[in-house]
Amino acid sequence: MPASSEDFAVVTGASSGIGAAIARRLAGDGRALALLGRDRTRLEATAEACRRAGAPLVRIALADQCDRAAFAEALAGFEAERPIGLFVASAGILDGRRDGETIERAETAATVIDTDFCATVDAVHRVLPAMLGRGGGAIVLVASLAAFAPLPDAPAYSGAKAGLLAWGLGMREALRGSGVRVCVACPSYVTSAMTARHIGPHPGEIDADDAARRILDGSRRDRAVIAFPFATGWLARLALLAPEAIRRRAMGHLRFHIEP
Ligand SMILES: NC(=O)c1ccc[n+]([C@@H]2O[C@H](COP(=O)([O-])OP(=O)(O)OC[C@H]3O[C@@H](n4cnc5c(N)ncnc54)[C@H](OP(=O)(O)O)[C@@H]3O)[C@@H](O)[C@H]2O)c1
Repeated sequence: MPASSEDFAVVTGASSGIGAAIARRLAGDGRALALLGRDRTRLEATAEACRRAGAPLVRIALADQCDRAAFAEALAGFEAERPIGLFVASAGILDGRRDGETIERAETAATVIDTDFCATVDAVHRVLPAMLGRGGGAIVLVASLAAFAPLPDAPAYSGAKAGLLAWGLGMREALRGSGVRVCVACPSYVTSAMTARHIGPHPGEIDADDAARRILDGSRRDRAVIAFPFATGWLARLALLAPEAIRRRAMGHLRFHIEP
């Protein structure tokens, strides 16, 4: 039986953490899936878990999203096979200040901004024209609560995620009435390979399956911003409005460094 356009979901960053958990959850809902990542072994493991969970079709592609041409080709291949109804952009990196450094390095900042913001924006533009042509589709961008509460130990990450949030909300409004919906997910700490390199406190950390459930639930409800956990999400959203002295004191409890 041919799938409807809403059935085919593409997930980036599906080889690990939140992206893998989202893929498994979509598989459980009977979605056909296309999964992207860079690590073959882990991507194939997610694909196998998705097949076991009930996905009727699972395609994979290994591609670095910073290699725009290769990533675009992979996305075009999926779209040619079936219309993409849902695009989840979870691929991303966290990098920042290393132990003993005062600030993150310039090359770290450039890589983080390219991966987490520029490449993600480019990927969305690759899938958007076909969605617009069909008059339907859903896009979920995985940003971070760091978009609201900038991290002194990862300023480029915070800026990239703030950019993704602002861009996503701008696109959401620009696409109103087109049938294409955009939601921006802003998680707090989620257990994953990324968090393992974040050496510092992780208050309120939740597991990746819980994060995936919240993100997909927020997308189904068409929430503009899916910020969680609830209390931390609102504290972070209010942080930008708080006087700097208060914000600095609160963020002082969350200092960290990145382990290479
Ligand atoms: N974990 C948290 O506490 C947390 C909190 C807020 C927001 N987030 C966001 O959630 C998203 C997923 O993070 P996670 O915790 O699941 O991290 P993760 O376990 O490290 O997974 C990151 C995923 O992104 C992929 N990726 C990274 N760089 C890529 C690139 N250049 N091209 C293609 N794929 C790339 C990785 O692929 P390979 O492993 O195959 O290389 C992996 O599948 C990220 O955008 C992150 O910023 C995470």
